[in-house]
Amino acid sequence: MPHFRSSVAAWALAISLPATAQKAPAGKPISPDLFGIFFEDINYSADGGLYAELVQNRSFEYAPSDHSGWHPLTGWDYLHEGYAMGSLSVESTAPLHANNPHYVQLRVESPFQKGLGLKSAGFDGIPVKAGEKYSFSLWARAKAGAAMPLLVQLRNQQGAVLAEATLAAQAGQWQQYRATFAPTATAPDASLVVLATGKGVVDLDMISLFPQNTFHNRPNGLRADLAQALADLKPKFVRFPGGCLAHGDGLDNLYNWKNTIGPVEQRVAQRNIWGYHQTAGLGYFEYFQLCEDLGAKALPIVAAGVSCQNSGGSWKIGGTGQQCVPLPDMAAYTQDVLDLVEYANGPVTSTWGAKRAAAGHPAPFNLHYIGIGNEDKQTPEFRERFKLIYDAVRAKYPKVEVIGTVGPSPKGEDYDQGWAFANQLNVPLVDEHYYESPQWFLANNARYDAYDRGKSKVYLGEYASRGNTLYNALAEAAYMTSLERNGDVVRLASYAPLLAKEGHTQWNPDLIYFTNTTVVPTVNYYVQALFGQNQGTEYLANVVTQPAAADTLAASCVRDARTGDVVLKLVNASGTARPFNIALAALKGLSTAATITTLAGPKDAKNTFASPQAVLPKTAPYKAGKRFAYTAAPYSLTVIRVRGQR
Ligand code: AHR
Repeated sequence: MPHFRSSVAAWALAISLPATAQKAPAGKPISPDLFGIFFEDINYSADGGLYAELVQNRSFEYAPSDHSGWHPLTGWDYLHEGYAMGSLSVESTAPLHANNPHYVQLRVESPFQKGLGLKSAGFDGIPVKAGEKYSFSLWARAKAGAAMPLLVQLRNQQGAVLAEATLAAQAGQWQQYRATFAPTATAPDASLVVLATGKGVVDLDMISLFPQNTFHNRPNGLRADLAQALADLKPKFVRFPGGCLAHGDGLDNLYNWKNTIGPVEQRVAQRNIWGYHQTAGLGYFEYFQLCEDLGAKALPIVAAGVSCQNSGGSWKIGGTGQQCVPLPDMAAYTQDVLDLVEYANGPVTSTWGAKRAAAGHPAPFNLHYIGIGNEDKQTPEFRERFKLIYDAVRAKYPKVEVIGTVGPSPKGEDYDQGWAFANQLNVPLVDEHYYESPQWFLANNARYDAYDRGKSKVYLGEYASRGNTLYNALAEAAYMTSLERNGDVVRLASYAPLLAKEGHTQWNPDLIYFTNTTVVPTVNYYVQALFGQNQGTEYLANVVTQPAAADTLAASCVRDARTGDVVLKLVNASGTARPFNIALAALKGLSTAATITTLAGPKDAKNTFASPQAVLPKTAPYKAGKRFAYTAAPYSLTVIRVRGQR
């Protein structure tokens, strides 16, 4: 992923100015967790995306309620090769687990030359690489008598076998069988074939194929290239599992974290609010582990005992609207939230800490934040349920910081009522969301300057400027300088949404687009990366000045106490080169050695699948004076990192 090494653009002009006396700028502390990421299973971000499972509908749980026309055999083809005779059906008697009720039964009257079985083409094809290894597994149970021989193959589009294994499914109980595949050739769109090659009956479930090369080599892990793209953002926190996914489409669709832990074959699959299916293979354990692998804090969002107000449609145009957990059930619901904290932080001797330990992580995950609700409509029912959960979390876990919610817009009824409610309860942070035009972001750079420092702090949990051009990205960059300037009141911020799979995108724009084999970071991504990689611990005012103020110009200066480095970020979202004056003279312990990174190009430039590197950051060594002028190119973000001492 991004390594910003190359020469700076020729237009960069640095002039040393004579030193004049300057008062040391007072540093204002910035939240240590300012820039993080928002992960939601939207746009096939999880199954078929970050979650590295290559077999779609591995446990035959797809249903019409996931997506019109889907059923337990969606994603599978029936094979009867070489004149094999028999039949296939989906069964649910004596399943592998009650949470995983469907499985396939193959009844082989005559396997004849080859056998009878199933083929999966994965999520738009199974990408495999020669030289890499893949872990195959399935659960099987032969009916009475002899074992059923199974032939498992990876085949390319032409039918050539790239890898194969033979297994023998024993009669009696369900058992798991495994094989390792080392494909002889690379194929972007292979398929997986499972054939019963003997006479008899066999049940199959949880047919799975994973690359062994997952992020941090975790079993049941994450796609290495996508997770690395997240790691390169250097996020300080990860919000999950949404978004709207967290509060769901109706009460039966509230995201229930307890359904997503434990052995994968025992997890409860669920309809995805974005019109597809969640296996829960990427569940709460995997989310916490990802946070740990990224060096980021976990920020789970739980539903506030109410579903999305757009459930069943939209509250404006009908639908069922916000549905509420009945009050008599709220004690149990609230206990689930408390149990989540115990799962993350409790000792191994606690009920839920023991489950974390059983999953292979006896040490706590040190959960610090928890969000209650997601841009919910501020109804009395919402408020009553929020307070029940909030009071219980505060009473039992006073060190865990709770994040409240203030609607889907930067202003309006839910925003006003949400803020009033949060202030009334002294909620530590509230989650603001806004998707606005680039002009809005440029014009509202001062939004947080006037926020009351004595009230709840802000988590800007979802924001984006409705586009993936360089201009959009620069509008966001300009805004991010204001988040740094207000890093005392804006404690956390995350762009949304994060990931989007080509051909399966419900929401645009997104930060990273991908296919099964490629990852295309947008220009917006590089802005997030430059801010994430250059986070500071204090904001230094008056170091950068602009001779001509304009909405299209913005700048920040932060110092990172961990390295002593000082970082300047200069944004020019206009079509004309613009000067910035920089005065570092009063800052102690700075060297002249610096690096300069620029992200610049035509206003409408975008990174696309056809042109994935249209706009990339370029980094070069730089010599910083005590006072100097820097002329920023049209449509550019410049990051100058001046080396300091701790
Ligand atoms: O980020 C996409 C969606 O936008 C989120 O699910 C929701 O919270 C917001 O409306």
